Amino acid sequence: MKPRARLVAALACLGLLAVGCAKQAPLSTLHPEGPIARTEYGLWNVVFILAVVVFVLVEGAIVFAIFRFRRRKGDDSAPKQTHGNTRLEITWTIVPAILLATLTFPTVTTIFSLARAPKGAMQIQVQAQQWWWKYTYPKQKGITKQFTNANELHIPVGRPIRLALNSADVIHSYWVPALAGKQDVVPSRTNHLNIEAPHPGTYLGTCVEFCGLSHANMRLRVIAQTPSDFAKWAAGQAQNLHMPTSALGQKGMKTFLAQQCVGCHTIRGTAAAGNVGPDLTHVASRETFAGGIFDFNTRNLRKWLTDAPAEKPGSKMPAGVATMGLSKGDIQALIAFLEGLH
Ligand code: CUA
Repeated sequence: MKPRARLVAALACLGLLAVGCAKQAPLSTLHPEGPIARTEYGLWNVVFILAVVVFVLVEGAIVFAIFRFRRRKGDDSAPKQTHGNTRLEITWTIVPAILLATLTFPTVTTIFSLARAPKGAMQIQVQAQQWWWKYTYPKQKGITKQFTNANELHIPVGRPIRLALNSADVIHSYWVPALAGKQDVVPSRTNHLNIEAPHPGTYLGTCVEFCGLSHANMRLRVIAQTPSDFAKWAAGQAQNLHMPTSALGQKGMKTFLAQQCVGCHTIRGTAAAGNVGPDLTHVASRETFAGGIFDFNTRNLRKWLTDAPAEKPGSKMPAGVATMGLSKGDIQALIAFLEGLH
């Protein structure tokens, strides 16, 4: 190999190595939190260590053979031909069989124990669609009324949560690496996934099954709260909307109700009862919107209401200006209305 080619090859290898590095890597399975992710991580560790031992032994033997038995200068004799070695063949059949049998036991028991519904779990319905997540919270202690929320899953810490996952269209996959492994979300079938957060905080996640144009724009976050904060949040979410108090907000509400917005969105306490897009009753209580890709603020809302499909390719939300014919003033009023929906 020429020195230059060697340099290029070395740089390419370095580049490949570097893509595995990130100071801030929120989507990493290597920092499990909570009992479920930790159990999975424990199993992964056992498999990984065994795999490393096998890798080093096998590759070591190959490298040893390459150097020890390489053709040397002045040696033109043909290599000795051999056929079959019963003892070796039995060994390399039995050793992997023992290894696999050893791995089977912890793998199967872990799979079954994680598949069970944990005691005292809160069950939350998750519906995936292009390209956002809809959560439906059950009626139960602390939650007096069923309500829905989008993209941001609020949960109480220290309590197991059982997600019942469905898809409204194509196959998606639910993944919050700090809390649990991936779970496919398939149309006409309910899959389950257990999660439990050990302490308050925000755990980031995303869809990990290619599901169309905006697959990369289908993010999610799990917001874990103390049980009392969670109960407060849930009580607020179960209420109908807070009526706008400013004149601009009231104008925005009128615009909203007169537009096709009502065909797709629900705002509890108004005539808007659409089921295509997220429930907006308390949209201003969310940190993000549009599949979790934008921070909830005035600037992003304006961009979104002006031309949603330009912000999120394939979005079912029509372009506000070009398609729905909204004026600048309409958009200003709609923003005032939406920002009041706490
Ligand atoms: Cu949903 Cu990818």
